[in-house]
Amino acid sequence: MKKGTFTVLLLVSLGGGLGAYLQRPEAVQSKWKAPAWADTLKNPYADRVEEAIKAGAKIFQQQCAVCHGNKGRGDGPAGMALNPRPADLTSKEVQAQSDGALFWKISEGRGAMPAFKAILSEAERWQVVTYMRSLARK
Ligand code: HEC
Repeated sequence: MKKGTFTVLLLVSLGGGLGAYLQRPEAVQSKWKAPAWADTLKNPYADRVEEAIKAGAKIFQQQCAVCHGNKGRGDGPAGMALNPRPADLTSKEVQAQSDGALFWKISEGRGAMPAFKAILSEAERWQVVTYMRSLARK
């Protein structure tokens, strides 16, 4: 088994348990907001977009697609049982957020969404953010 696959499987099983915990009726899900300072973070790939999209696409398929789906629409096989469901990354609501806010959410995680600062380097997280932009609904 590839290391990436193992990590995802491990996270999905951990996430499942945590998801069940968060589904307690009293754990009402509030809207997930990144702190304002995250908006000031600068994407270091702003002038190397193509390079970042290429690298980010690979990372996305390995680490994110299982929950968010191959095209980021929130319809990955491991996401079906989660509550809340994995976000539709192509949506206006997600795409309207700053690169920094998305970077922060990917880094910190919430509920079933893993904290990728423990899994991906800073550069890799920015590459994924840059790739996510290419998924926006036209
Ligand atoms: C184990 C399943 C899982 C994996 C793997 C996963 N996510 Fe998520 N993701 C979620 C869930 C569930 C949410 C919704 C969390 C919430 O709202 O509490 C989420 C939310 C998000 C959000 C926030 C969207 C918003 O509403 O603002 C972003 C951005 C995101 N994921 C990106 C990623 C990226 C990029 C990866 C890969 C590096 C990834 N996710 C991997 C399950 C996952």
